[in-house]
Amino acid sequence: MNILIAIVVLIAICTIYVQYCIAKAEPELLWDWKKEDVSSVYKAKWPKNFLWGSATAAFQVEGNNAPSNWSMWENATDEHGKPRIHKGQKSGAACDHYNLFRQDLKSAAEDLGITSYRFSLAWSRIEPEMGVFNEDAIQHYNEVIDACLENDIEPMITLHHFSHPLWFEEMGSFEKEENIDIFLRFSEKVFRAYSDRVKYWCTHNECGPFATMGWGLGVFPPGVKSIRRMGAVLLNLMRSHTKVYHHLKALPNGQDVQIGLVKNIFQFDPWHRWNPIHWYICRFMDEVYNESIIRTIRDGQFSISNGPLFKMNVDLPDAKGATDFIGLNYYSNLLMNIRRGMDASSGPPFTPWGRPGQIMTDFPYTTYPEGFYRALKRIATLDKPIFVTENGIPDNIDDRRQDWIERYLYAMNKCIQEGIDVRGYQYWTLLDNFEWAEGFDMRFGLYEVNFETQERTLRPSTQAYRKIIGKV
Ligand code: BGC
Repeated sequence: MNILIAIVVLIAICTIYVQYCIAKAEPELLWDWKKEDVSSVYKAKWPKNFLWGSATAAFQVEGNNAPSNWSMWENATDEHGKPRIHKGQKSGAACDHYNLFRQDLKSAAEDLGITSYRFSLAWSRIEPEMGVFNEDAIQHYNEVIDACLENDIEPMITLHHFSHPLWFEEMGSFEKEENIDIFLRFSEKVFRAYSDRVKYWCTHNECGPFATMGWGLGVFPPGVKSIRRMGAVLLNLMRSHTKVYHHLKALPNGQDVQIGLVKNIFQFDPWHRWNPIHWYICRFMDEVYNESIIRTIRDGQFSISNGPLFKMNVDLPDAKGATDFIGLNYYSNLLMNIRRGMDASSGPPFTPWGRPGQIMTDFPYTTYPEGFYRALKRIATLDKPIFVTENGIPDNIDDRRQDWIERYLYAMNKCIQEGIDVRGYQYWTLLDNFEWAEGFDMRFGLYEVNFETQERTLRPSTQAYRKIIGKV
C-alpha cells in the first residue's frame, strides 16, 4: 500500500515538474516550411546600413600558428593515446589567410558584396612572450584593417576567439582570476593600436562553449572534465569581459566605438516533452551554457542555480548592462535525453537527433531556423542592439547551404519586422577552415578551399547570400 502511495506521489511530482518546465520554457517552435513563403526573403526589407558580412577566427584560417593552447592541443593525445583532433589533423598552413588576406577580402567584396568582416587577433603572435609585443604582428593587423577599409568593409575585431598564447595557457589561463589583467593589458595594447579605424569590438567569443568544451567535456584544451572548474572559468570569463569592457570604454576612442560580448545560443529541448528527466537535463544545460551568461549581463549577478552537484552565486554589479551590443552566434538546438545529457565522456559529436522533416547538417545537429528566431527573441530581452556574429552550415557537398541561408535569413527578417533591433549578420565562415577538434572535415566556407593549392572557389549556394545582400 505504502509503495502504491509513493508511486502516486512520485507521478504527481513529476507531472507538476513537467508542467512547471513547460510553462517556463520557450515553446520548441517548428514551422511548416511548405506554408512559409521563404522566397520572400529576396524581396525583404532590411534596416538602413545593415552590415552584411562574414566571420573568421585567427587560429582557424591564418596558418603557421604561433605557440598557443591550440597548437599544443593539436599535437597532444588523450589518455588512450588517441590524437585530440579528428584523425590527428593539424592546422598547418590552414588557408594561409595570414598571407592571402588581401586577395580574400577583395574577392569577398567583389564576389559577394559583403560590407563587414569579423576576424580575431592571434594574441600568441602579438605577445609571443609575456609582456613582449611583436611590432610586425601588430603591423600585420593594421594591414588587414586597411585592406578591409579599402574594400568598403567594416572591420570587427574579436579579442579572444578560443586561442591564446601557450605561456598564458601554462599559467592557468582563465581558470585564475589574477590572469585576467594579462588579457586586459593585451586588449589595451591592441585597442590603442586599432581603435582609430575599428568601430566594432568583441571581447570574448562564446564563453559557454569555451568553458564547457575545455573544462566540462574536455574536448578542447586544456581537456579538463570538472563541473566545478568549468564554473570557475565561466565566472572568470564574465569578470574578464566586464573588466575589459569598462577599461576600453575609458580609453581614447572608447566612447566612439561599440564593444560587445559574443554569446552563442544552443537551445536544449527535451527529446520527450513528457519526461521530467529530459527536462531536468535541459534546464541544467541551459542554466550553465546560456542563462548564467545572459543573467550576468541583465542583472549583474553570475549564478548557476539548479545543478545537483554545485551552485554558484556571485554578484558582479559592474557586469550589468556592460555591453554596447550583443553578438549572437547561432547554429541549432540539441534534443536532450539521458544519454546525451549525462554521457559527457563521449563528447561531441553527439548522437544526431532531429524532429521529422528537419535536415541534418554535416555536424550532428539539424538545420533549425526557427531556433534562430527563438534565440534572437531571447537575446533581445537584454535590450541591446544585436549583431549576428556567426551563423552558417557545415555542408561539404553544398546541397543544403542555399536552404540554410534562405531560411535563417527569412527567420531573422521575421524578427526584424517584429521590431527586434538586429544591425548586422556575419555568415560563418568565409573560407573552409580548421574546425577545431574536427580538423578540416567540416566545411562551412562561402569559399571552398583546396588545401593543397590554396585555390578558392565560390560555392554555388552562396549566390543566395549574394542576391539577398543585393549584389545581383
Ligand atoms: C565557433 C567557431 C566554429 C563554429 C562552427 C562557433 O562555436 O565560434 O570558431 O568554427 O562555431 O562550429
